[in-house]
Amino acid sequence: MALYLVTGGGGFIGSALVRRLLERGDAVRVVDNFATGERRNLEAVRDRIDLRETDIADLDALRPAFAGVDYVLHQAALRSVPRSIDNPLASNHTNIDGTLNVLVAARDAGVRRVVYAGSSTAYGDSPTLPKVETMPVAPISPYGVSKLAAEMYCGVFHRVYGLETVTLRYFSVFGPRADPGSPYSGVLALFIKALLEGRQPTIFGDGEQSRDFTYVDNVVDANLLARTAPDAPGRVINVATSVRQTLNHSYRLLAGIIGTSMSGASIAAIKPVYEPARPGHILHSLADITQAREVLGFEPRVSFEQGLRLTVDWYRENFDSLPAAGI
Ligand code: UD1
Repeated sequence: MALYLVTGGGGFIGSALVRRLLERGDAVRVVDNFATGERRNLEAVRDRIDLRETDIADLDALRPAFAGVDYVLHQAALRSVPRSIDNPLASNHTNIDGTLNVLVAARDAGVRRVVYAGSSTAYGDSPTLPKVETMPVAPISPYGVSKLAAEMYCGVFHRVYGLETVTLRYFSVFGPRADPGSPYSGVLALFIKALLEGRQPTIFGDGEQSRDFTYVDNVVDANLLARTAPDAPGRVINVATSVRQTLNHSYRLLAGIIGTSMSGASIAAIKPVYEPARPGHILHSLADITQAREVLGFEPRVSFEQGLRLTVDWYRENFDSLPAAGI
């Protein structure tokens, strides 16, 4: 039985990976400092995982968590463009220094492969769509810089030390357990929470910006494929659905799915509030996923609309236990 280490296993993507690995019968260790991850995401599986409450930015504390590990799925990061604009040092520290520590610890422990959660923010705001991995990178936020620098460290560790690393560039991942209670939350989680509460969500800009929103189960699939694909090491691979949605369209779809809020208000009557666009955010995003198909054998199984329905169902069921506001 292989032993997996999921860094950021308490986060929304990390905990989805943990649950899938356990379903498959794999052994799972989790590293999380719960700065942004949530203990409740792991509550149901707490007695089946080896949980290490450790900060990836602390190499000495991190090293023991790598003993005996076969595969590392490195999800730990300080997510969010606006968070990085408010505090670039913190994003730099966790996302770059933290990843370098993960790579050093993995190399020294003889880990077989590290799969890194990269970001489409690496592409920046060039108008060319879809984004192909061979395009130049030009991030436009501290967050994008940090995710790209860490990705480059992954490539260098493969080249220089022979450590097998794969970067998956995620495109706007959404799904159950994404924290909806923070100003730094992803836009779809914020929309859903506002609608369920009968409040007006905010759209920054005219709402015609677009994203290749990717349901979390598709990202889990890609990680498991990247772990074994023979030609994957050393590569940077887009993980998305290759379909883009504007925020306005996404909002209308969600409003249709939700119908009435938990308090009984008719959602049709709730219009979003439009505010000026925020800095650091790219306008449009769409992935070419040819490489994921060819190298990983990846195919997105859950469509955007199916994913929205699954996500809304989860929030409805778990709404009472969600935080009112976080960080
Ligand atoms: C998202 C992820 C990022 C990831 C990237 C690529 C989050 C918070 N960000 O960035 O970690 O690396 O995809 O996978 O998960 N917006 C509104 N109203 C709101 C909030 C946001 O209109 O209340 C707008 C933003 O200004 C932006 C768009 O929605 O134009 C998307 O923003 P956001 O959800 O923060 O994430 P991405 O920039 O797509």
